[in-house]
Amino acid sequence: MTESTLLTVALQDRSYPIDIGAGLIEQAGKILAPLIQKPRVYIVTDENVAEHHLAPLQDSLQTSNIDSDYLILPPGESTKSFANLQVVVESMLSAKVERSTTVIALGGGVVGDLAGFAASVTLRGIDFVQIPTTLLAQVDSSVGGKTGINTGQGKNLAGSFYQPKAVLVDTDTLATLPDRERLAGYAEVCKYGLLGDLKLWEWLEKNGEKILSGDDKAITHAIEASCRAKARIVAEDERESGVRALLNLGHTFAHAFEAELGYSGALLHGEAVAFGMLMAFDLSVRLGLCPASDIDRVRTHFETVGLPVNPPELARNFTADVFLKHMAQDKKVADGALTFVLLHGIGQAFLTQNVSPRDVTATLNAALTA
Ligand code: NAD
Ligand code: GLY
Repeated sequence: MTESTLLTVALQDRSYPIDIGAGLIEQAGKILAPLIQKPRVYIVTDENVAEHHLAPLQDSLQTSNIDSDYLILPPGESTKSFANLQVVVESMLSAKVERSTTVIALGGGVVGDLAGFAASVTLRGIDFVQIPTTLLAQVDSSVGGKTGINTGQGKNLAGSFYQPKAVLVDTDTLATLPDRERLAGYAEVCKYGLLGDLKLWEWLEKNGEKILSGDDKAITHAIEASCRAKARIVAEDERESGVRALLNLGHTFAHAFEAELGYSGALLHGEAVAFGMLMAFDLSVRLGLCPASDIDRVRTHFETVGLPVNPPELARNFTADVFLKHMAQDKKVADGALTFVLLHGIGQAFLTQNVSPRDVTATLNAALTA
């Protein structure tokens, strides 16, 4: 067996391992055999991922005498829909999955969120395992049990908290990931530094380009640091009643732009998170909470690696009000007030409801005219 790093998401009887290493798909059968109830799995994946990684997974499962069926979905954000939830649930039922069957989500955050949600409702809940294949999914979405789909009203507005039984991060899968997707995932790595870990941010300023050019050591370090941070936060606040909300840094802005611009691929989630985080900094600076030099520092790094620092041209066809309306539908609205993740500086994020729509509009206008 090749070397891997084992982390744990500590949630009492629902605790689970995150196994991080190269070549783990080849060993998936052996790793999963002791973790699943019966030697039968149902793999959900998408076309791009299936092309490269489905057959090696099937081979590995077969070697360990685990039976597998599979479903291949079209790729992209628009797959995270009610219609596809139905497709996944009914395909699994047609394949006669039982409560002891385990669903494997093989893919990025789209497959993970959708398959996890389907697992949580099929037969009132069957086990699932995440095998994330994008950088974004390996550092964020595969860990923590948030599952869901987009609705006509916005991003991720239907879903469940449903923890996987295990997360297998095979770093080799990133070799086939398009550069644009790798960069989008890097935004979520930056998020961990920006929200609470200045040392990680400083390391990223020095090593970010190595991660993006495919340096194995740098990638593994970034994934381990991110998963360690996420596992700690989820163990502390599984259902997002407090500290977990910090993981939404930049997301309230990001989700509004994603919802308005559609899920066509014109704007990737990680890209929206990148300029969304800069908007959170802008708002913090505007409110006198954060030094302006910190936003300059973040912008410089994003420009160096090629992350978007402003919303795409397409967004300029809309007024700030349009995005503000989307933000009002965010899951983080309580008693009509939106909770924002703002910053006292790099690595010092905090939650507040004390933000006026006027200041948010100023930030939106600045981004739309930059
Ligand atoms: P994605 O799942 O759409 O994958 C991006 C693209 O890369 C797709 O075209 C996919 O087919 C392709 N791909 C995936 N792995 C590949 C590989 N190894 N080789 C070649 N192609 C590959 O997007 P994503 O960025 O992974 O995930 C974004 C989604 O994750 C969003 O819907 C977002 O809301 C969600 N998300 C969820 C959480 C959570 O906690 N549940 C956290 C962050 C993001
Ligand atoms: N990506 C945000 C969370 O998992 O809470």
